[in-house]
Amino acid sequence: MIVMGIESSCDETGVGIVRRLPDGTCELLADEVASSVDQHARFGGVVPEIASRAHLEAIVPAMRRALAAAGIDKPDALAVTIGPGLAGALLVGVAAAKAYAAAWDIPFYALNHLGGHVAVDTLEHGPMPPCVALLVSGGHTHLLQVADLAQPLVELGSTVDDAAGEAFDKVARLLGLGYPGGPVLDAIAVDGDPSAIPFPRGMTSARDPRYDFSFSGLKTAVARYVEAAQRENRELPIPDIAASFQEAVADVLTMKAIRAAQDVGVDTIVLGGGATANSRIRSLAEERSAAAGLTLRVPKPRLCTDNGVMIATLGAHVIAGGAQPSEFTVATDPGLSV
Ligand code: KG4
Ligand code: ZN
Repeated sequence: MIVMGIESSCDETGVGIVRRLPDGTCELLADEVASSVDQHARFGGVVPEIASRAHLEAIVPAMRRALAAAGIDKPDALAVTIGPGLAGALLVGVAAAKAYAAAWDIPFYALNHLGGHVAVDTLEHGPMPPCVALLVSGGHTHLLQVADLAQPLVELGSTVDDAAGEAFDKVARLLGLGYPGGPVLDAIAVDGDPSAIPFPRGMTSARDPRYDFSFSGLKTAVARYVEAAQRENRELPIPDIAASFQEAVADVLTMKAIRAAQDVGVDTIVLGGGATANSRIRSLAEERSAAAGLTLRVPKPRLCTDNGVMIATLGAHVIAGGAQPSEFTVATDPGLSV
């Protein structure tokens, strides 16, 4: 069974192809990603219209390249992200998937983007035990309970305002460091002191919902710090701001992920999403997982960011679980929850 996955929920046009093996794992046959990130840079964030147009231009060439890389004329099934994501961007991938599934006369599966971020880990680390997944990117911040990849995931918590990656982007913009902000802040933080500035840890008091996140207060605290320094004509300690901000984000994310795993009673945590490329989120997650006796699984950065392979891999699991193909009338769902 060879599955092609199509992903177009944000600014990456991804087409991946995997083969499902008899032992239930998947073999990667093709991984094509075309990103429009450079076109969004001067706006400081993803511009939906630009993303949709870029998907339109990139999707068919990416499908052709993926087929050539896998050495096949057509897959046995097509899986596509139906949501959550940008409305116009999702439409491009879903229209392509429907058209090709009809032309090739193969089944088509409309899937949840978030499930793909979790499923992709099985490519590198094999079958997935019941676990808690922490997904962190520019568009989402979720804590999920995973019993079986073929079944809908259970949401334990999510951000009530900004996504964690979005907070990195906004803080970098505030400091005049460009877009996307995550990688830049990560690099600058190496030279800073993570305990220099006591930035707030959102929603960590006893009153707050146990697994939800809030990052807008942290972003505002950084803005206030910068304003005060400018008012007083103090030089901005950019590395210390970057390190202290990054520490606050990593602290809250990993603290809640560990707590969730312990409460739910699983011994594995899976990370996913572009912001899990962050060196401090990774190292603190490793440190705290080890201290709590938990196993941490983190896909390589290439598979953490949005791609088609994750949708192909989820498709393979869902098909193996006996799911029925989707109807061609199924609509995109930009606000889809898990
Ligand atoms: O998953 P992704 O490629 O796209 C979506 O947002 O869905 O993630 C991109 C996000 C951006 O917000 C970017 O700033 C953040 O991930 N990011 C990072 C790092 N690398 C990427 N955030 C913190 N540290 C990083 N090293
Ligand atoms: Zn994503």
